[in-house]
Formats: sequence, structure tokens, C-alpha cells
Amino acid sequence: MYGNDFGTPTEPEQPVAAATDDELQQEFQALIDGDGRIEPRDWMPEAYRKGLIRQIAQHAHSEIIGMQPEGNWITRAPSLRRKAILMAKVQDEAGHGLYLYAAAETLGADRADLLDLLHTGKQKYSSIFNYPTLTWADMGAIGWLVDGAAIVNQVPLCRCSYGPYARAMIRVCKEESFHQRQGFEILHTLSQGTDAQKAMAQDAANRWWWPSLMMFGPPDDESPHSAQSMQWGIKRFSNDELRQRFVDMTAPQAEVLGITLPDPDLRWNDERGSYDFGEIDFTELFEVIKGNGPCNKQRLEHRVRAHTDGAWVREAADAYADKQAAKGRRAVA
Ligand SMILES: [Fe+2]
Ligand SMILES: [Fe+2]
Repeated sequence: MYGNDFGTPTEPEQPVAAATDDELQQEFQALIDGDGRIEPRDWMPEAYRKGLIRQIAQHAHSEIIGMQPEGNWITRAPSLRRKAILMAKVQDEAGHGLYLYAAAETLGADRADLLDLLHTGKQKYSSIFNYPTLTWADMGAIGWLVDGAAIVNQVPLCRCSYGPYARAMIRVCKEESFHQRQGFEILHTLSQGTDAQKAMAQDAANRWWWPSLMMFGPPDDESPHSAQSMQWGIKRFSNDELRQRFVDMTAPQAEVLGITLPDPDLRWNDERGSYDFGEIDFTELFEVIKGNGPCNKQRLEHRVRAHTDGAWVREAADAYADKQAAKGRRAVA
């Protein structure tokens, strides 16, 4: 009791009544409404905690599975400079996974359990990574479009109500912006090259455009979790708003590249001050989510194999930690 530090209390001590769930809930919501941050030790509704663990874990899974399509091209990058840039980029994605698993752990989750959920297919990762990378131009299209879409999705998360997630996203977004530029630069170089190089850039954009638009998720009227996520300050803009923002950002960049985006309905709408675009075939998205995309099986198998191959590293780390702990105990004794 702090009062004792400052002399004898003048009034007899009153037992402090524990706050009711309703009161805690109100304080929690008031903090979010006032744009404050929820920190790991703060009270939070169980559904907020669980929902965040799921979202952050799926985000982390996407970062580490996302290393595969580009990892595929590291040995075949056309120059040492391109190889160094691509390696740095793929390494960044591993780092993003790391920050995010660490953020999920602040909510009481165990990283090993989350990886288990990924490996057994019980938790998903972004469906975009179930598409193959067929040519070098795909490295450009992924950086430009996939990382570009990731930025649009993730910038609002820097203001997410959960402190550790928001702070992790600030650094992630800085790195994503480098990824987007390096992708654009690859396509820019190809688009000024030979006819075959131009055709390769166009083909990559054709294949990655629609899947990138699907990265924002189903349309608003089919997105059941959004209202609660908005109220809790986890989501700040709807799927359709973010998708529109991405189209508006990307369409003028395509013009600079001399690339035609594969949508005959894409055009500037003066009245709306935005680009109109064609209808998205969401049946494809749902098929890929269900596991029927071109590379779902391959991606998961590779991930499980990498995890199994890395068992000796985890065992060595555990053995080292045990040794250090034993040393500590001997020093105390
Ligand atoms: Fe990333
Ligand atoms: Fe990235």
C-alpha cells in the first residue's frame, strides 16, 4: 500500500473492490477509442487476445512461407548485384516472421505450437505464396505488386491497438518499401530491354495482378470479422478500401513501366477520383485458400522439411541453455 510510505493513513483502509468485467471492458474500449495502445500485461477480452494471436501467427506464417517463391531464384539471379539484393530481401522476410512470432508470444502463445498449427494445415498463410515463380521477371512482379499490396495492407497496422504488433509493423513497413522499389526497378530494367525482356515483364504482371488484388481478402459484404476488428482498432480500413488504394497507387506506376495491367475495365474515373476496375474472380481465391492452388502442397512440404532439418539447431540451443542454467546454479550454490 503506497499510503504507508507517506505516513499513517488518516482513514481506515477500505478493501479495494475488484473491477468487474464490464468496467474492465469499458476501460479497454475507452483506451482504444482514445487511440491508446494495449500492452501485454493489460486486461483484454479473451476474444481480442485469441483473435490477435491468430492474425499475427498467420501473418508470421505468410512471411516465412513467402521466402520460398523468391528463394527459388537466388541461385539464378542474373548478376551478383541482383543476387545480393534478392538474398537481403528474402532474409528480411525471415526477420519479419521473427518479429511477428515474438509479438504473438507476448500474448501468451508458444512459437512451437504456432509452427505446429502451420505444419498441420490448421492455420493458413497468405494464398499469394501458392503461385509459382516461373521467370526472373516474377521477382520484379512480386516486389512491385505483392510487396506493394503488403505495404497498403500493413501501413494501417502500424497504428493497430496492440502495442507490440504495431511497433513490429513500423520496421516491417520500412523494409517492405525497399522490397517494393527493388521489384519496380527489376521490371523497369526489363521494360527498357529487348522485346523478349519486355514480354517477360508483361507476362509476369499478367500472372500476378489478379492474385495481388485478392490479397486484400473477400469483398466487404462477405467479410464477417471486419466489424469487430474495426471496433478493436486492429483493422482501420475495409478490404475494399485498401484494394482501391492499391489500384490507385499501382495503375500509374504500370504506365511508367509501359506495362498493361490485364484488366480491360481498368480506367480512371474523374467523378470518383479513383480508378474503376473489373470484377475479381473470388472463386479462385477460395480454391487456393482451400489448398487447391498450384503450389500449396509443395510450399507446406518444403516448410516441414526445413523445420525437420533444423531440429539439430534447436536441440543445440536447448543444450546450450541447459548448460548455462546449470552453470548459474553452481555459481549460486
Ligand atoms: Fe515481409
Ligand atoms: Fe516483403
